[in-house]
Amino acid sequence: MLNWINDRYPLSWFWKRHLTEYYAPKNFNFWYYFGSFSLLVLLNQIITGIWLTMEYTPTADLAFASVDHIMREVRYGWLLRYLHSTGASAFFIVIYLHMYRGLIYGSFKRPRELIWLIGMTLYMALLAEAFTGYVLPWGQMSFWAASVITSFASAIPYIGKTLMIWLRGDYNVSGVTLHRFFSLHVIAIPLVILGLVFVHLVALIFERVWITQ
Ligand code: HEM
Repeated sequence: MLNWINDRYPLSWFWKRHLTEYYAPKNFNFWYYFGSFSLLVLLNQIITGIWLTMEYTPTADLAFASVDHIMREVRYGWLLRYLHSTGASAFFIVIYLHMYRGLIYGSFKRPRELIWLIGMTLYMALLAEAFTGYVLPWGQMSFWAASVITSFASAIPYIGKTLMIWLRGDYNVSGVTLHRFFSLHVIAIPLVILGLVFVHLVALIFERVWITQ
């Protein structure tokens, strides 16, 4: 069956070339694990997120109660939720160590500037993902975080107030805000993150190809 697939698709070639027979510099050390750890945590977030979405309700009336339902009534729902919320914190620990490696080894320098810049954009997307996720349980902390953080936009001269209302979708943080944050958290930002991870890795692989040419 594998041969049948390989005749039509470069599966084994890709596996060998980019994983099992991939040439890597001898001086790689523990600090270089954190890129792969980030991939692992990202996978955990996606899988637990899909299952949480099955039970969560993104409306102002029902959001908090649906999280309560996940914690108390869904079988292993508490585990799913804690894997997702602790996973989000783990993501930042792993990403900061990944960025720290970049700083101490000068990975941001030529010829890796683009990998670093894509990484910084990824970091911004991760912050947006974490923020929109924090609002979803719709508790006091969620509400006030959403109020304070969206109001940052109002500090921008001239357009600030309009921008803040545009972000909230309402004059105050409301069910409209919750609903759009849900859509951003579950669909828009994850797509951006996955796309950026792909170009981050393509830039990394091609940088090595240019060097060994
Ligand atoms: C979802 C987030 C991310 C994932 C999944 C990811 C994944 C990876 C992987 C697998 C590698 C190769 C292995 C390694 O060197 O650790 C790598 C390399 C790299 N990453 Fe990331 N990364 C992410 C975010 C970031 C961020 C936020 C930055 C910096 C702002 C960054 C900067 C870099 C750099 C500069 C390299 C090249 C290292 C070198 O060759 O010296 N990455 N990344």
